[in-house]
Amino acid sequence: LVLVVDFGAQYAQLIARRVREARVYSEIVPHTMPVAEMLERRPAAIILSGGPSSVYAPGAPHVDGDLFEAGVPVFGMCYGFQAMAQSLGGEVARTGSSEYGRTPVTVTAPGTLLADLPAAHRVWMSHGDSVQTAPAGFDVLASTTKTPVAAFEDTERRLAGVQWHPEVLHTEHGQKVMEHFLLDIAGCRPTWTMVNIVEEQVERIREQIGEDGLAICALSGGVDSAVAAAVVQRAIGDRLTCVYVDHGLMRKGESEQIERDFVAATGADLVVVDAEEQFLDALAGVSDPETKRKIIGREFIRVFEAAEADILAPKIAAGSHAEGVKMAFLVQGTLYPDVVESGGGAGTSNIKSHHNVGGLPDDLEFELVEPLRTLFKDEVRLVGEQLGLPAELVWRHPFPGPGLGIRIIGEVTRERLDILREADAIAREELTRAGLDRDIWQFPVVLLADVRSVGVQGDGRTYGHPVVLRPVTSEDAMTADWARVPYEVLETVSTRITNEVPEINRVTLDITSKPPGTIEWE
Ligand code: XMP
Repeated sequence: LVLVVDFGAQYAQLIARRVREARVYSEIVPHTMPVAEMLERRPAAIILSGGPSSVYAPGAPHVDGDLFEAGVPVFGMCYGFQAMAQSLGGEVARTGSSEYGRTPVTVTAPGTLLADLPAAHRVWMSHGDSVQTAPAGFDVLASTTKTPVAAFEDTERRLAGVQWHPEVLHTEHGQKVMEHFLLDIAGCRPTWTMVNIVEEQVERIREQIGEDGLAICALSGGVDSAVAAAVVQRAIGDRLTCVYVDHGLMRKGESEQIERDFVAATGADLVVVDAEEQFLDALAGVSDPETKRKIIGREFIRVFEAAEADILAPKIAAGSHAEGVKMAFLVQGTLYPDVVESGGGAGTSNIKSHHNVGGLPDDLEFELVEPLRTLFKDEVRLVGEQLGLPAELVWRHPFPGPGLGIRIIGEVTRERLDILREADAIAREELTRAGLDRDIWQFPVVLLADVRSVGVQGDGRTYGHPVVLRPVTSEDAMTADWARVPYEVLETVSTRITNEVPEINRVTLDITSKPPGTIEWE
């Protein structure tokens, strides 16, 4: 385990991912965690992240000197580098000359940390203060025109640092520097592989659920719930029941795909509940987005609760389950970024659902099983592949719980859903044909159901609806940019939609980034 101490920069998650790319498991901890508590976790190494502040700023986060006395290898980056230098008796000066962005660096004596790196290369910098003198016992490895000490190491005490950000892609050879520290200086072993992750999680889940516990999992059609279910299925077999609520707001072919591909790949016990009528009745006459979301969430809970009873009744009748038995465990596809953001640790938790799956209520008395709690999205996909889930499922784009219900601007009706389903299927098909699925984060198609415009088709006037194409690129859906999908692909999508979906006579493109726009329209 490598601990990444977060000094409040947005870089900590990226650092943790890079450490894992070097096949060493890592977790993020806040800089406010006492050193003793960090050491209790027996880390193989500790990395101090960058941070927004100067070490001289009032209230700047402090590094406790004990950290360097414990014999645990430590690597400082940017702010962490300066804090380390200061704490160990080096000199950090406010030179007034800052470096931001791509900066040439000169390797003067590579040592272990910068071994095999070109003498001159470019790195990503973002700092005002700089280290003037390294602490005693350290070798200075590199410099820039403005920073005499841009990297140092003390291989005896296994301490090292760089002024730059090795974790960002703009830094040349960044991953190599990370690996030199982790493997060559700290002596970590690269054993964090997908096979090990799956085995470890399976073991942990067996322990949590016990010999005869029963678990239930709501499949949403998304990657996370499918992979979480597959891991739990591997751990406890058919004591897991998956429930897929078909609310009629799914995309074309989606329900069939879950029923066919997911079951084929996992052998999971899947109960499909056809609740289209119930959802559409509840949504009749509603066009306010928040009201739609609430209704969908509420109906989901009703269906889910009824399903639990329906699943158990026949098993109790058949005598395989005792009277009064409960589905005590609820599987959720919570990911590590959610855990970090809510300030939680990475262990198992008994807290109630975070409304991840269709907004389950607080009074559902389940213990949560969260097999993906320590994983990033890209790792979840690799685990999915490892478990044999089909690529179409593992690489599919995120899709919101309320489904197409929040992509119809106006009232949701079956006719409108059918129209949108056709247009959406064409857009997705053409994106796949162009080989762009993995470059685009999401490609919503939005039906402006209450808007009409005049068009002409053949010899006739048309008066149809517009759709909006909303392709975006993103890393985490927190921010996004409109995707520059090639004109030829957009042209094919537009031509096909207006030709094949008679109710649609206009196709428009949304070129708003997030912020200020959101990805979905409602
Ligand atoms: P926005 O529209 O806020 O969406 O930019 C950010 C991401 O979240 C997805 N999304 C949802 N996912 N339930 C979900 O499971 C929801 O109610 C929901 N609303 C938005 C959206 O598709 C995007 O990936």
